[in-house]
Amino acid sequence: MKVILDCDPGVDDALAIMFLIAEKVKLEAITTVAGNHEVDKTSYNALRILDVLGEDRVPVYRGSKGPLTRSLVTAEHIHGSDGLGDSNLPPPKRKVEKEDASEFLARFVDENTDKVHLIATGPLTNIAKAFRYRPWIVKKIESFTIMGGCFFLTPFGYGNVTKLSEFNFFTDPEATYYVFKSGTKPNVVGLDITQDPGVAITDQIFGILEGVAKRIVEKPFRKLGIFHLHDPIAVASFIYPDIFKFKLFNVSISLYDGDERGMCIVDRRGIYSPNANIAYKVNRREFLLKFLKAISKV
Ligand code: BDR
Ligand code: CA
Repeated sequence: MKVILDCDPGVDDALAIMFLIAEKVKLEAITTVAGNHEVDKTSYNALRILDVLGEDRVPVYRGSKGPLTRSLVTAEHIHGSDGLGDSNLPPPKRKVEKEDASEFLARFVDENTDKVHLIATGPLTNIAKAFRYRPWIVKKIESFTIMGGCFFLTPFGYGNVTKLSEFNFFTDPEATYYVFKSGTKPNVVGLDITQDPGVAITDQIFGILEGVAKRIVEKPFRKLGIFHLHDPIAVASFIYPDIFKFKLFNVSISLYDGDERGMCIVDRRGIYSPNANIAYKVNRREFLLKFLKAISKV
């Protein structure tokens, strides 16, 4: 199984990497994108986390400096000035690869005889570019898991940047629009699931965290009083699909400015053909048990 993670670490992206490695998912590569922070920092952070995990095998490819057409909006206020909760982790021993992330993604998927599993936990800029370079690779993607969007399907499915839109989709709506039109039919885990306090780090859960996880979560958790596990939950849907429920919908992405920017418009009537498989339920207890057990090993 060939798995690639495209991400913007970011505290919860870092936890998602820890989760994947602890669960022995063999990552072919990590590709990085600008989102929670500038791309140099998200790349540096991916390398730092891999170092802490003793993973010097996984190459890191640095990707897009910013969204396809818009200016970058970062989330430093949540992830800290270093993007990892100001945790002061040691600098990485390795450097990023020379090839650009989207070129690598397009080439890797195209040249591999095995189909590739793609997980995206940041803005979809690199992926949209890869699909533009070699559109036929869409057919070689075995599964595609995205953390992003809010779909108004559960009481938690409302925006976390504007009233209507979620950070990853808000950051690069044009890339999201392109990916949703690409014919990939991704599995999408959005705020409907991840904003539920029942799957977040709350006082009780924070009390049992240890090691690196505690170190990177501490500052944002103390600031916000809760820490949402957006990206680890998306990763859980890849590793443990049985603890989630998904439903196919046709979703369009708003390119308007203002509150609608990056908003997901869901066809609940079922008139248009589905283009995405949206998560609407998770077994909270199972997720927390699996996640906490895994990260306690690293
Ligand atoms: C998403 O935005 C980022 O800040 C998180 O890493 C996550 O991928 C949640 O809206
Ligand atoms: Ca992220």
